[in-house]
Amino acid sequence: MSRTHSGRVAVVTGGGSGIGRAIAEALAEAGAAVAVLDANGNAAEDAAGAIAAAGHKAMAVACDVARFEAVESAGHEVAAALGPVDILVNNAGISPKHAGKPASVLEMDPAEWNRVVEVNLTGAFHGVRVFAPGMARRGWGSIVNQSSVAGKTHVGFVAAHYPATKAGLIGLTRHLAGELGPSGVNVNALAPGRIDTPLMRGVATEVNDAIVADTPMRRLGTPADVAAAALFLTSADGHFVTGQVLDVAGGWKLA
Ligand SMILES: NC(=O)c1ccc[n+]([C@@H]2O[C@H](COP(=O)([O-])OP(=O)(O)OC[C@H]3O[C@@H](n4cnc5c(N)ncnc54)[C@H](O)[C@@H]3O)[C@@H](O)[C@H]2O)c1
Repeated sequence: MSRTHSGRVAVVTGGGSGIGRAIAEALAEAGAAVAVLDANGNAAEDAAGAIAAAGHKAMAVACDVARFEAVESAGHEVAAALGPVDILVNNAGISPKHAGKPASVLEMDPAEWNRVVEVNLTGAFHGVRVFAPGMARRGWGSIVNQSSVAGKTHVGFVAAHYPATKAGLIGLTRHLAGELGPSGVNVNALAPGRIDTPLMRGVATEVNDAIVADTPMRRLGTPADVAAAALFLTSADGHFVTGQVLDVAGGWKLA
């Protein structure tokens, strides 16, 4: 692995599991010091511990991205321990299911809707609000928002809040690319297809089998597939790419 991210400091939200953990590991292997923020403090500790054990610099912060004060306080902790943050990956996300099934919008609990919006969409704003001012001041930064193919097209097996937030992240990404570009900050979104993580395992096997059959590359994605895309977008080589939504989906729902 080349040291494309040497000297950089990166924050990955939801970095304790699945895709976020793979991104945190890839950034660390590429030379970045990485702060793993996760609502599940043990998962964050576990991920940061594994990265440190592999000889890289990492720290864990228990942090619910839906709470602005929690992200603000995480920002102080990270700055004190690792220095100014150059890279932010807004990856934390939830997709509530009930016995493996999404709620129908006809019966959805408004509290569930609000929680998904607060974590998936407002959480990304909180990250930007805390970490982007320093990037803009220093004239270099890179932000990746974790959207989804479900934010671009109808996929059927998620509830209404999920695609609404993932589409919202695409709007946020385009806006931020315009607003922060003059300050040297690139902002992009990833749109993973079906990626084999704990989040996905809550869904019935038949659903995933049908997706594989409908995916030109004929497999589920891996967290490493998504991490490779995040690595490019946050590298110096990817810095002129901004405002884009990059599918990492094996051609699934190709538009
Ligand atoms: N797995 C897929 O097929 C897939 C596809 C497209 C997009 N995504 C997106 O990728 C991201 C990661 O998904 P994953 O599959 O790795 O999920 P995952 O459940 O394995 O990991 C998500 C992590 O986010 C953390 N988290 C949840 N709520 C949080 C909060 N409020 N604050 C901080 N951390 C919080 C969890 O503790 C967990 O460690 C999500 O945004 C998800 O929507 C996943």
